[in-house]
Amino acid sequence: MKYLLTVLIALSFFALQACEGPAGPAGKDGSQGPAGQNAGFVYFEGFKDSLRCQTCHTADYDTTYRVVTKKVQYEMSGHRELGNYDRNTTQCAGCHTNEGFFERYNNGFANETFNINSPSGPMVKQGYPNSSPVGCFTCHSPHKRGDFSVRDNNQVNIYTLLKNQTTKVWNSTGESNLCVKCHQPRMTSTFLTSAPYSWQPDPNAAATDTAKIYTSRWNNHVSGEQSQTLLGFGGFEFVGGTYPSSPHKDKVDAKGLGCEDCHMATPIGNKGGGHTFKIGYTPEGSTTESFNFAGCNNTGCHSSNPITATGAKWKGVRDEIGAKITQLGLLMMDTTITKKWSLPKSGKAVAWVSLTTDGTDTTWSVANASSTSPLRILPAVKAGALWNFQQVVNEKSKGIHNTAYVRALLDASIAELNK
Ligand code: HEC
Ligand code: HEC
Ligand code: HEC
Ligand code: HEC
Ligand code: HEC
Repeated sequence: MKYLLTVLIALSFFALQACEGPAGPAGKDGSQGPAGQNAGFVYFEGFKDSLRCQTCHTADYDTTYRVVTKKVQYEMSGHRELGNYDRNTTQCAGCHTNEGFFERYNNGFANETFNINSPSGPMVKQGYPNSSPVGCFTCHSPHKRGDFSVRDNNQVNIYTLLKNQTTKVWNSTGESNLCVKCHQPRMTSTFLTSAPYSWQPDPNAAATDTAKIYTSRWNNHVSGEQSQTLLGFGGFEFVGGTYPSSPHKDKVDAKGLGCEDCHMATPIGNKGGGHTFKIGYTPEGSTTESFNFAGCNNTGCHSSNPITATGAKWKGVRDEIGAKITQLGLLMMDTTITKKWSLPKSGKAVAWVSLTTDGTDTTWSVANASSTSPLRILPAVKAGALWNFQQVVNEKSKGIHNTAYVRALLDASIAELNK
């Protein structure tokens, strides 16, 4: 009811503006009239005192924020396009819905903790059958603050699902500290929360240990791999290997690089950059992908030796990592290989991954793992290759986030299966 009232008041406000007659001489408050007053009741998160609605809501007046343009860009963002805001139960709503994120904000993100084998982390206390997608008010608080600062810019603990690997802190730019409140591992992954529990990845597992994997979602749930990769951890680091990181990690550690620097660079219409959050995009009238390198080629980054679509630091890296992903995937589909490391040794050999092609898109997934019949890998450490495969595929930049780390994970995994 309160909400309806709000909208009615807001609408009548706009209507009044729209019905204005010819302008008279400026009054005592100047040509813009008096500053708005706090309406005296709470809606949205309340209004900042003396907020001028036109600052953001009148396109030809809004020369500061250009809200209209951000809205157009945002329609093309994965946050809007992908539409998974129906993931609104207590375990999902905290990252997938506007409403769930508000609840976490109000509870205090710093109070979120992680316990292995129990639903934890970014959980909410209630489901939201009526949910809306992540939107302007999720990330900003424009009515209450009167600006577009990010809603929360505090550091975030990035947990890891690997045994004996230590939690790291993401504390880079304030903007990226917001992103990783959702782009972090999902600690409610089925392999942790529903019995029978799948094997917890452990590079120090005994040679006699069998990895039993009861779910095809034996991973960080696409949300954790980007922040973990940029921090150079979260992969299965086989004992004896070295796992270096690229300069991107050092820049993140030095608070000099955030997600927004690459994903929200100077926009190209509504195709890439800005509030589309996209780097790869398809230009109007074309069917081939282009890339917005505006974020890469900044001073202090790649300005002296710019990144180009055909250069070694882009095409070179992505081709190399892409080929290694395919090589590792095919190894795990090759039953003469998997048979060496699967149980039962005598029975029918099974592939560890499968490949589905729907015409335009090719998707890898974990195969032959279910709650009634686990994928059984012996010795367990070989399952590290399967973990790393998903870690790298879900990181989704084909190595750009942290080339050295991704390359090391892939090389070690391929070597491990070929032993
Ligand atoms: C600092 C920028 C800013 C100011 C100032 C501002 N708004 Fe908004 N408002 C937004 C944004 C951003 C949205 C969401 C995008 C949109 O729908 O335009 C929004 C949305 C709204 C909506 C739609 C809500 C919905 O759920 O669809 C109403 C109504 C509204 N504002 C009323 C007002 C009124 C009345 C004022 C002045 C008292 C005001 N706004 C001042 C930024 C602002
Ligand atoms: C409130 C949680 C939340 C915040 C904050 C958030 N994201 Fe997201 N993001 C998501 C979710 C959930 C999805 C997937 C949407 C879907 O599938 O419907 C997503 C999708 C994306 C995608 C598209 C992924 C794809 O596969 O195409 C990009 C890119 C992205 N986010 C970048 C960012 C960046 C950069 C920031 C910080 C500026 C950020 N996100 C902040 C929750 C969030
Ligand atoms: C920690 C925050 C977080 C939680 C909790 C979370 N998600 Fe997500 N989810 C994301 C982000 C971020 C993305 C987009 C990542 C990307 O595209 O790279 C995503 C993507 C997805 C996708 C699209 C990609 C895919 O795997 O097909 C689905 C479906 C999804 N989530 C379902 C769920 C369900 C169901 C739950 C609850 C059981 C859940 N999510 C809980 C953050 C979360
Ligand atoms: C997923 C989080 C997220 C969502 C959703 C989001 N923003 Fe932003 N917005 C940001 C971040 C991060 C920045 C800072 C970008 C930077 O520093 O490069 C920003 C900056 C801005 C700015 C000021 C900087 C500029 O480019 O002028 C405006 C205005 C703005 N957002 C408006 C909006 C509007 C309107 C919406 C809804 C259509 C929206 N934002 C949705 C994260 C978000
Ligand atoms: C150094 C630049 C850089 C930084 C920093 C960066 N990304 Fe990326 N990211 C990329 C590139 C490049 C891709 C691949 C884009 C493509 O293929 O279109 C990508 C892909 C992604 C994707 C897959 C969806 C898409 O648009 O392709 C998501 C989601 C994502 N990044 C999230 C994040 C998050 C969250 C952060 C911060 C924790 C982050 N990225 C930081 C460069 C970066």
